[in-house]
Amino acid sequence: MVSILFLAMQSLSNVTTSAIKYSDIELEIIVHFTKSKRIKMFSSLKSTNDHEYTINTINLYKQTSHFNRMHQIAQGAEAVLYHDDKKIIKVRVPKRYRHPELDKQLRTQRTRREAKILETLQKAQFSSPKLIKVDDKTATLEIEFINGTIVRSALNNLSNPKQKTLMKSIGASIAQLHQHNIIHGDLTTSNMIINKDQLHLIDFGLSYTSLRVEDRAVDLHVLERAFESTHCEYYPELFNLIITEYKKQYKEAKEVLDRLEKVKERGRYKAKNGS
Ligand SMILES: Nc1ncnc2c1ncn2[C@@H]1O[C@H](COP(=O)(O)OP(=O)(O)O)[C@@H](O)[C@H]1O
Ligand SMILES: [Mg+2]
Repeated sequence: MVSILFLAMQSLSNVTTSAIKYSDIELEIIVHFTKSKRIKMFSSLKSTNDHEYTINTINLYKQTSHFNRMHQIAQGAEAVLYHDDKKIIKVRVPKRYRHPELDKQLRTQRTRREAKILETLQKAQFSSPKLIKVDDKTATLEIEFINGTIVRSALNNLSNPKQKTLMKSIGASIAQLHQHNIIHGDLTTSNMIINKDQLHLIDFGLSYTSLRVEDRAVDLHVLERAFESTHCEYYPELFNLIITEYKKQYKEAKEVLDRLEKVKERGRYKAKNGS
């Protein structure tokens, strides 16, 4: 016990320098140990704040042989993402510009929310990555890796018939999501992956459940604006195909699309009158 304690303490003070090389089994023990509640003891000893804790945990992950296959694939506004074989590790890192307590609350809340939505979607057999693991303390999610291409970059390289098929899949996916009372909250072509002909939606960090027509309309509005700016050469032609399929697949679509027009009008009014 004493030696494990010593090892773990030693590791916490050295993880950032990576000066000490441990065997894999020792590192497994450290990872396990620091992830347990006993981290609190080290936190007070070293006055480790959440930021350091997250960094330490990442560094501990990095030092295991397992981590050798991992590499950072994205650093978004919210999170750092690592790819490890068949999974993605998404860590919501602290934001220094936010009040530390609010920051922690937001990261935990968004991590939990994303995990919950992924579980719901899995049960509904929706085409999104499966949740493998969630850790509130480090605001970390482990999710299934989708081996494909982000729609944002795939679109230009597709033939016109394939683009049209893809638009239909997008419309059908959103219809299914809304049918299950889930609002994505950040619908853009960067949050969609195409793998062979299968479309997957990702990034449910801003998602929530809702029965409101307005929320569905705003969800579509976000996508329309993103599509218009990212794929202006295909707007509105391809975007309209998304809407046509949405209408076909979702029985409440008419109400949502009527509301979408109102949402757009409000946007135009605000832009014109500067409020
Ligand atoms: N399950 C996944 N499979 C493959 N790539 C993924 C997966 N999740 C995220 N990514 C990649 O990481 C990027 C950022 O992930 P995302 O969840 O959208 O985080 P952010 O909130 O930072 O936008 C995505 O655009 C995509 O390239
Ligand atoms: Mg994203």
